[in-house]
Amino acid sequence: MTTSSAPGKVYLFGEHAVVYGEPAVPCAIERRARVTVDRRDDDLLRVHADDLSLDGFTVEYSGASEGTPDVAVSESLIDAAMGYVDAAVEQARAAVAERRDDGPDPETIGFDITIESEIPLGAGLGSSAAVTVAGIDAATRELGVELSPEEVADRAFRAEYDVQDGEASRADTFCSAMGGAVWVEGDECRTIETPDLPIVVGFDGGAGDTGALVAGVRQLREEYGFAADTVEAIGDIVREGEQALQSGDVAELGRLMNFNHGLLEALGVSSRSLDRMVWAARDAGAEGAKLTGAGGGGCVVALDETDETGTALRFTPGCEEAFRAELDRDGVRAEP
Ligand code: MEV
Repeated sequence: MTTSSAPGKVYLFGEHAVVYGEPAVPCAIERRARVTVDRRDDDLLRVHADDLSLDGFTVEYSGASEGTPDVAVSESLIDAAMGYVDAAVEQARAAVAERRDDGPDPETIGFDITIESEIPLGAGLGSSAAVTVAGIDAATRELGVELSPEEVADRAFRAEYDVQDGEASRADTFCSAMGGAVWVEGDECRTIETPDLPIVVGFDGGAGDTGALVAGVRQLREEYGFAADTVEAIGDIVREGEQALQSGDVAELGRLMNFNHGLLEALGVSSRSLDRMVWAARDAGAEGAKLTGAGGGGCVVALDETDETGTALRFTPGCEEAFRAELDRDGVRAEP
């Protein structure tokens, strides 16, 4: 039996634009998904997952890929999560086949898989990337192969790319595999130095459909020149943002996050509850706030030195949960 964990993330800057080759800076936070993999005697996958949401919003799921799950959350979210697990196992098997020519064909090896996650599904905190990254690491190690975090990131990207029909950047998976803050621009992925940041996350209890939101931006970008310019402008914000990050200038980071949110709103990926939380965070004294991830619903990220517990956001109508999130400098790791 082998267990690995990987962190969720917030986007300081650059989601959506990163799909078109602009840079993005996601940043890992101390909310992790743990995946335990146990080799079976047949080639089946059985998946058990409790608590696929934030504390206090427990979602029970238990099922098997060959059976009918006992579902207490939206079936489409569960289906999506199971798609990532299948794709992660496929990538792990391929990685093992590439490394080993002894032993049984990895395609014939099945697994019992248990997922424990502190990251809500589809809410912009990188739940699918964290599960995919941890799943690939655990499944390869269970079969006696150690991949570097960069190799896990690459395999996890391929898994997400397949599940999302080619509409995925390397940002979520690279960040989850490496930890800390990272720079992703096309195929160029690197970690970047960052000071500890006063990150506050607000969650509206909902989720967005990443595929549909990415497709919506693509259509807008093809239809309107100004939407294409908006995507490029987000890239400019990210480049400015890297400098502010290097100099630890939280006020400037916040200003740039506010610009970034405005442009995401213009691209149609915000929502009423996300906008409300963004404004509540700003009104409470945050240096800046924006939606994080694909949008449509889910989470916002704010930088606020004064709000130790996310209290200001917690009392905003439409905010189900808010918390202070520490930067997680650990990426994927083996768990005892
Ligand atoms: C989703 O977490 C982030 C997007 O930029 C899509 C991607 O980068 O794959 C919207």
